Amino acid sequence: MPTSIVILAAGQGKRMHSDLPKVLQPLGGRCLLEHVVDAAAGLPEARLHVVYGHGGERVRQSLDHLDVEWIEQAEQLGTGHAVAQALPAVSDDDVVLVLYGDVPLVRAETMAALTAAAADGALALLTTRLDEPAGYGRIVRGADSDIVRIVEDKDATAAERALDEVNTGLMAAPASLLRKWVDRLEADNAQREYYLTDVIAMAVAEGVAVTGIAAPPDEVLGVNDRFQLSVAEAALRERSAATLMAAGVTLRDPQRIDVRGELTCGRDVMIDVNCVFEGDVRLADGVHIGPNCIVRDTTVGAGTEILPNSLLDGADVGAHCRIGPFARLRPEARLADEVHVGNFVEVKKSDIGRGSKANHLTYIGDSSIGSGVNVGAGTITCNYDGVNKYRTVIGDNVFVGSDTQFVAPVTVGAGATIGAGSTITKDVPANELALSRSRQIVVPGWKRPEKKKS
Ligand code: UD1
Ligand code: CA
Repeated sequence: MPTSIVILAAGQGKRMHSDLPKVLQPLGGRCLLEHVVDAAAGLPEARLHVVYGHGGERVRQSLDHLDVEWIEQAEQLGTGHAVAQALPAVSDDDVVLVLYGDVPLVRAETMAALTAAAADGALALLTTRLDEPAGYGRIVRGADSDIVRIVEDKDATAAERALDEVNTGLMAAPASLLRKWVDRLEADNAQREYYLTDVIAMAVAEGVAVTGIAAPPDEVLGVNDRFQLSVAEAALRERSAATLMAAGVTLRDPQRIDVRGELTCGRDVMIDVNCVFEGDVRLADGVHIGPNCIVRDTTVGAGTEILPNSLLDGADVGAHCRIGPFARLRPEARLADEVHVGNFVEVKKSDIGRGSKANHLTYIGDSSIGSGVNVGAGTITCNYDGVNKYRTVIGDNVFVGSDTQFVAPVTVGAGATIGAGSTITKDVPANELALSRSRQIVVPGWKRPEKKKS
């Protein structure tokens, strides 16, 4: 069934008290509207329309990459008016699915259940039950418990306010019917708005079936303020943790992991507490991630151990490596298998060959390091002259003594040894020892200065 999805996103979101339009507020690494669009894109034969208004240009610009049709609602005259702006772009043979830009956690399967009911000619409505339904439209059912209408909180009587079944805002209907009903909406209510919810009573009056579909409350959370944003974040966290554990990942504490993007894991991956994953992260079989790590857009090979407090960003780490504690891998750090990168070691735009080790207090930038290299503590590649960047090339099986500086561009041949404390400014031939330090002297009889008495 061809489906036209209309996402309402024109509201201002006053209660966020923010310069950012509400639908651009971040949730789990994407903005609210992207969550809705991404889930909706999972429906077959669907065309997406986004009704935008408040902060309009900003919304369009920041989400320009989305494959949607943008429809402007210049004045926000209510949800019914918003849908009316989109309907001219919709074919009469379609089913229309209305989604809200500020209800971000609805699953594609739930959306599909709504469109399936509407494909059978019904008006399908997603409802839920809330302990605290204040603010929501209430579902009013008749004597035979069929849905008869929705009453908005501001228009409800005390008895209606006591109802705990609420409108989530999501609905689906055949386009031809919806068009007819929306044309007839009037704004004679407490908010002087065209309520989309008034179409329910119209459907009932015409004998069109109204099908209520129940959703769990945490799937239909609406985000109107910062507190609700945090509740949605927690729900999303719980959802991604459950997915990971179901796939065989051990989480030391499912409440203390944040996945702000796509995390793909092999078998028997273990993730300790307080880790944040951003962008596209892939962890192969048996990877262990220690506490307090932040990993972004990185792949990690099988059996590698990331020790506590490490930051990995744009890195490609091989199998059976040991990274951290307190390591920092920056973009284009490419580590072969069995590499060790220890505490306070930073690696940027560098290749490190198999089995090489840099275990302490080191900066490796714009470098190419062979296999079996030992980089001593305190080694620094001086890659920057204040204007340009240069490369350091170190061959296989080089031994770099502690506290060495490589002033790039410089190349060290395979098997060479660098004496501790050297500043290497010229290329070093293979298998030779190079060192650059003054000879140690002893100054006989030298005394430390003493504090002057005043
Ligand atoms: C709406 C429903 C209410 C439901 C609740 C669920 C109506 C009349 N009421 O109320 O029954 O319980 O959602 O969250 O539909 N929008 C526009 N243009 C407008 C007005 C709104 O695009 O002119 C968009 C908003 O950006 C938002 C959505 O529609 O994404 C809902 O609008 P909002 O004002 O938040 O409606 P509620 O009062 O929450
Ligand atoms: Ca709302």
